[in-house]
Amino acid sequence: MNADSRTRLNRTPEWHALGKHREELGQTHLRELFESDPDRGTGYTLRVGDLHIDYSKHLVTDETLGLLRELASATGVAELRDAMFRGEKINVTEDRAVLHTALRAPREAVVEVDGENVVPGVHEVLDKMAAFSGQVRSGEWTGFTGKRIKNVVNIGIGGSDLGPAMAYEALRAFTDRDLTLKFVSNVDGADLHEAVRGLDPAETLFIIASKTFTTIETITNATSAREWLLAGLGGDRAAVARHFVALSTNAEKVTEFGIDPANMFGFWDWVGGRYSFDSAIGLSLMIAIGADSFRELLGGFHAMDEHFRTAPIEANAPFLLGLLGIWYGAFFDAQSHAVLPYSHYLSRFTAYLQQLDMESNGKSVDRDGNPVDWQTGPVVWGTPGTNGQHAYYQLIHQGTKLIPADFIGFARPVGELSPTLAAQHDLLMANFFAQTQALAFGKTAEEVRAEGVAEALVPHKTFQGNHPTTTILAGELNPSVLGQLIALYEHKVFVQGAVWNIDSFDQWGVELGKVLAKRVEPALTEGSHVESLDPSTRALVATYRELRGR
Ligand code: F6P
Repeated sequence: MNADSRTRLNRTPEWHALGKHREELGQTHLRELFESDPDRGTGYTLRVGDLHIDYSKHLVTDETLGLLRELASATGVAELRDAMFRGEKINVTEDRAVLHTALRAPREAVVEVDGENVVPGVHEVLDKMAAFSGQVRSGEWTGFTGKRIKNVVNIGIGGSDLGPAMAYEALRAFTDRDLTLKFVSNVDGADLHEAVRGLDPAETLFIIASKTFTTIETITNATSAREWLLAGLGGDRAAVARHFVALSTNAEKVTEFGIDPANMFGFWDWVGGRYSFDSAIGLSLMIAIGADSFRELLGGFHAMDEHFRTAPIEANAPFLLGLLGIWYGAFFDAQSHAVLPYSHYLSRFTAYLQQLDMESNGKSVDRDGNPVDWQTGPVVWGTPGTNGQHAYYQLIHQGTKLIPADFIGFARPVGELSPTLAAQHDLLMANFFAQTQALAFGKTAEEVRAEGVAEALVPHKTFQGNHPTTTILAGELNPSVLGQLIALYEHKVFVQGAVWNIDSFDQWGVELGKVLAKRVEPALTEGSHVESLDPSTRALVATYRELRGR
């Protein structure tokens, strides 16, 4: 397809066919779909690695799926995928290759960027990370005063924070419990204050994670952390080398900050920030779980990469999940997508996905800069079950919005739970299955009446159902499974961006706020440059200064 026709995605025959099919589907209920095909529950499933993916509770038929696949073919998703894996510069606005898949490629693989195989460099960094994390874990790496490191504080933001912070929670059961990891991201001084409160600087290692090493939040927090450390260790700047390491692509800025380049773990401009967690950015996680578990995590990522790269489209999980999202956004006007993990360990999983999905696909111009006039990325949200059930599930069940949701659960609990606590797992999972059942099939007015409910209350107690969900079930949450899950979502986001013809790998939308913040800051501190502010902001700044006592 040429650029012009891609721009008019919603005028393609494939799009029209989907629109017509949507009209024909009308109000067809999941109850009817299951009545006409009782085998849906087993037929509409995929097994990918350790993940059992059930999409039977979606508002789709074989015809829908066929039409969605035709849309994917017409929009060249597979071709773009292959170009990505080949190392072509598919991030058009930044003229960069998109090769997070090379971060988990096996040692013997060959992936070329500008004619150079990048895989040996990837493994060199991984080996350096393994050696360093081994030293920290064994106590061989000591602080400036010779004390063993007990606390690791990762300072970074966005992709330099969310991945390791999420995975540290997810894989708690696999961590060295003698080490404490903290994650500082917010430029609000309270974040660092609370993180280092009570810590002994002599036992604390700071990992400064920043691809660019220019991000204001990270550099500000890193500078304050260095001050805290030096104040605690008598002010000798030589201490920095034992207590600060950097994860970055910018050796010059790292050195300028005062971190020994020998203690820098590098990566490359072909790794996007939100796709960087399995690069050097994962160092804090590797210290927590050990190099072997980290490699298992990479193995999980790689297995899903291979599935995405090679599985036929009709059995390809990222294609399927991506296309389902497009279906609801375009033809059901769904604005958001809930991700609901039934694992306490996945408490940060959805927050991680928010950056992955919303920074990637929150775009309104296509790859050639033309405005799109179809829905792009949804609002992604959610928290672990069962907490959400007692908060916002009411709206999903009985509100006026269609909210497709992913339910992620595990057959076995992990870790050293007591028998009593391990037994709670079945109750957790009973809720998991009950929710998707209720969402899909609801409860009819007749069923409510049959329970003897007063007529006035019948509408209130009726559940329309017909709310689509995907169920993702695995044996247990372990490093490999986590890698598989993350890569599944990475590639789902890819498929959607490819169909929508947007650049999923840039993030120009975060720039304006950064520039304006620089302009507003002197207005707050010194009352200067206020004339450059708009009238509303100028008035707010004046009120702020008054309340701040300036
Ligand atoms: O939010 C914008 C962004 O550029 C993200 O894409 C990135 O993950 C984050 O800032 C942090 O950037 P850096 O790693 O360069 O500090």
